[in-house]
Amino acid sequence: MTTPPATQALQHIAIVMDGNGRWARLRRLPRVAGHRAGARVVREIVEAAAVRGVANLTLFAFSSENWRRPADEVSLLMALFVRALRDEGNRLVENNVRLTVIGDRAALPVRLQKTIARVEADSAHCNGMRLTVAANYGGRWDIVQAARRIVAATAAGEFDPATLDEASFTPWLALDQAPPVDLLIRTGGEFRISNFLLWHLAYAELYFTDTLWPDFDPAALDLALDWFANRERRFGRTDEQLRIGGTGA
Ligand code: IPE
Ligand code: IPE
Ligand code: MG
Repeated sequence: MTTPPATQALQHIAIVMDGNGRWARLRRLPRVAGHRAGARVVREIVEAAAVRGVANLTLFAFSSENWRRPADEVSLLMALFVRALRDEGNRLVENNVRLTVIGDRAALPVRLQKTIARVEADSAHCNGMRLTVAANYGGRWDIVQAARRIVAATAAGEFDPATLDEASFTPWLALDQAPPVDLLIRTGGEFRISNFLLWHLAYAELYFTDTLWPDFDPAALDLALDWFANRERRFGRTDEQLRIGGTGA
């Protein structure tokens, strides 16, 4: 009988960064102050994840549904995104982090689209951590856009629908390069997915914490990692089978 490794295979962490507004309200500050504080934390957590050897980190920055917020909050979020990319782009490259943005980009401000394209191109050669930021992203949108592209490719004679199965469907999704999510972290105390990565979360371990995103720090990340290390991932098997036969997806 061997002791399990300190951390079981953890290829992909996804985070719903929630609680900026409540963090600000607790301090009698405007919501935007919470978003600014949240943006600083993104920087810190990206670096902490890279240092801990996380291969894939996917962050939910703006959902398809967040357009329903007041217009001034939406434009501030877009402006913060542009600023963060401009300020941090070089640091990402120095840390060998490759950035990809997923979501329906066409609806984002053109200035943001250009900044995203630049940082993606600048970091395309980086082969350390893969950082994916979901902006104007929805899990349902993603599945539908994949289906639409498959239909178009089929009509063009470029895809044989008889070959369609789970494995051949996955590459059509926006998050095509990452393995399934192992650990989903949601800050801010809500117990929901909010239309994040529906397909990739199928077998994720779900970690919910009351900590508001602007208070989430590397120590809080370590708590989540420790919790994950103690999960028994069965992937449909029984716990007895795991004890006898080892692990494996
Ligand atoms: C998450 O914080 C940030 C985004 C959705 C962009 P919220 O702004 O949702 O914070 P709460 O949930 O109102 O506290
Ligand atoms: C989820 O947070 C989206 C992001 C963190 C970007 P929300 O605050 O928008 O989620 P709901 O509306 O409470 O479900
Ligand atoms: Mg929220």
